[in-house]
Amino acid sequence: MSLYASTSLISPPLQSIRLKTPLKLGIMASGYGSNFEAIAQAIDTHQLNAEIRGVIYNNPEAKVKTKAQHWGVKSLLLDHRKYSSRQALEQEIIEVFKAEQVEWIIMAGWMRIVTEVLLTSYPDRILNIHPSLLPSFKGLHAVDLALAAKVKITGCTVHLASLEVDSGAIIMQAAVPILADDTVESLHIRIQQQEHKILPEAIALAAQIYS
Ligand code: GAR
Repeated sequence: MSLYASTSLISPPLQSIRLKTPLKLGIMASGYGSNFEAIAQAIDTHQLNAEIRGVIYNNPEAKVKTKAQHWGVKSLLLDHRKYSSRQALEQEIIEVFKAEQVEWIIMAGWMRIVTEVLLTSYPDRILNIHPSLLPSFKGLHAVDLALAAKVKITGCTVHLASLEVDSGAIIMQAAVPILADDTVESLHIRIQQQEHKILPEAIALAAQIYS
């Protein structure tokens, strides 16, 4: 294994940012929920001054539901297939999160495009995590694309959500070297290790910048 295998080449210094009042977070997720769990752990260990007011997931099979139960966080399935439009789904998301006094929305593996309905309800208050060094490799298959492009370094990005997919202001990034024998799975695992480090820090940093 190369010297670089477990290191991030340009990770930012991860000093904790102290927020005076706990941020009220609403999480949106579609899948496994490891990024939700990273946030929950950071809160539990006092690295992030926040509380998770609820998790919304759109896929009945999403493992994030079990993870939310484990952490004692309320979760709600809003299956996008049951809504007439993206906007109709987002109206319900907004209702749920406003009722919970959510201040910041974190898209932690949310695999749906968001519209102006959600964005204007939470202006500069929605973060997304993406498994590439944006602006490279936008979209659903970022890890595959980086591997196919034969770049030597990829990574992950936390950014503000915007109308254009994977294009809002970048808050934090971490780099991950691509190894000669990497598969999509092995590379994604190392990218996620970096995601779990930077997401809680990026939430605190964004709250400091935009509040
Ligand atoms: C993460 O790697 C995240 O970057 C990616 O989905 C994964 C979710 O993992 N998001 C996207 O690809 C968004 N375009 P998780 O469910 O274990 O947190």
